[in-house]
Amino acid sequence: MQIKQPLFFDTYKENKDADIQALIEGLLCPQATLSPKYFYDEMGSVLFDAITLLPEYYPTRTELEIFTQQASEIHAHFPKQATWVELGAGSCQKAAQLFTHSKPSTYVAVDISVDYLSQHLKDLQAKNSDVNVVGVGMDFSHSLTFPEKLQQQLTAEPLLALYLGSSLGNFNPVEALYFLQRVANLCKMGQPGSGLIIGIDLVKDSSTLERAYADDLGVTAAFNLNVLRRVNSLLGSDFDVRDWQHSARFNVQESRIEMHLQAKKNLTVQWQGQQRHFKQDETIHTENSYKWSIQKFTTLLIQSGFTNTRHWTDQKSHYALFWAS
Ligand code: AVJ
Repeated sequence: MQIKQPLFFDTYKENKDADIQALIEGLLCPQATLSPKYFYDEMGSVLFDAITLLPEYYPTRTELEIFTQQASEIHAHFPKQATWVELGAGSCQKAAQLFTHSKPSTYVAVDISVDYLSQHLKDLQAKNSDVNVVGVGMDFSHSLTFPEKLQQQLTAEPLLALYLGSSLGNFNPVEALYFLQRVANLCKMGQPGSGLIIGIDLVKDSSTLERAYADDLGVTAAFNLNVLRRVNSLLGSDFDVRDWQHSARFNVQESRIEMHLQAKKNLTVQWQGQQRHFKQDETIHTENSYKWSIQKFTTLLIQSGFTNTRHWTDQKSHYALFWAS
C-alpha cells in the first residue's frame, strides 16, 4: 500500500541572514536579549516536551483537561468540513488529541522548527489517511503570509485557526494585538463559520507561576541554558553553559514571567570578531511569558477585530480556552 506523504512548504530559511543580524543586536543591547524562538532546536524541542510532563508545569495538562472535560461544548464551535491551521504545531500532539473528537478535511501545521515538524507530520499523516496533512515551516511572529499554492485551500472552506499551549504569552500586549489582527484577517479569508481557538494562561499567585518555570528537576533550566549552545552553533560564539544559571521571576507590574540566564562570574563572549562582556550577575533576558485575565484577553480579542468570543476554564481558573469569530 502506498503511504500518503504530507505536503511540505519551507518558507523559514529564506530570512536567515536578517535573523542572525537581529540575534547579534540583541546580544549587544545593554540588557542583552535573545528571542525565545531560538529555544527550539532539536534538543530544545525535546526539552520543551519534557517540560509539559512536569508536575509543576500546569498549562499543557490544564489545557487538555479543559478540552476533554468540556469537549462537546467546545467542539460544537468547530466548523465542519473545515481547514485547520495550527500555529506553533510542534509535535502535533495537541491536534492528534483533538482528532479523536473532530477531524478537519485539511490540517495545515505551521512551525518554526521545520525538521521537528516534518518528522511528526509524517506520523500524523500515516495515522490519519482521511486528512490532507500539510506542513509549513514559517516564522509567523512578524507576518502571516502563506505560500501561494496554499491560498486557495485557505479560502475554499471554513477555516479554524488554532493557537494552543499559551504560546501567545511570548508576545507583549502590543505584539499580541498585531498578531491577533493578522489571525482575524486569516479567519476572514475562510468561508462562514471560521474562527480561532486559543489557549491562554491566566494570572495567578506568583509562587505557582514561578514554580512552573523553575521546576525541581531543572528541566526548565536545561531548556533555558540550551539556547546558549544554539547561539554557539548559529554564530560560532564561545558561550560556556557552565558559566550561566537559570532564573525565572514573575513581574507583577508587567504581568509576565521573565526568564533570564545570569552570569556566574565576570566573563567575555566572542564571535566573528565581535565580543560582549558580562559582569557577574548580569543577565540575558531569554523569554517573557505574559499572563492574562479573562476580561483583558476578551477585550484584546475584540480590539483585534473578532466580534464573538466565548471561553472555558478549569476549576481553579488557572487557564482558559477562548473561541473567537
Ligand atoms: C511555549 C511559550 C507557552 O511560556 O510557558 C515553558 C515556553 N518556557 N517553560 C511558556 C516555556 C519555559 C512556554 N510557551
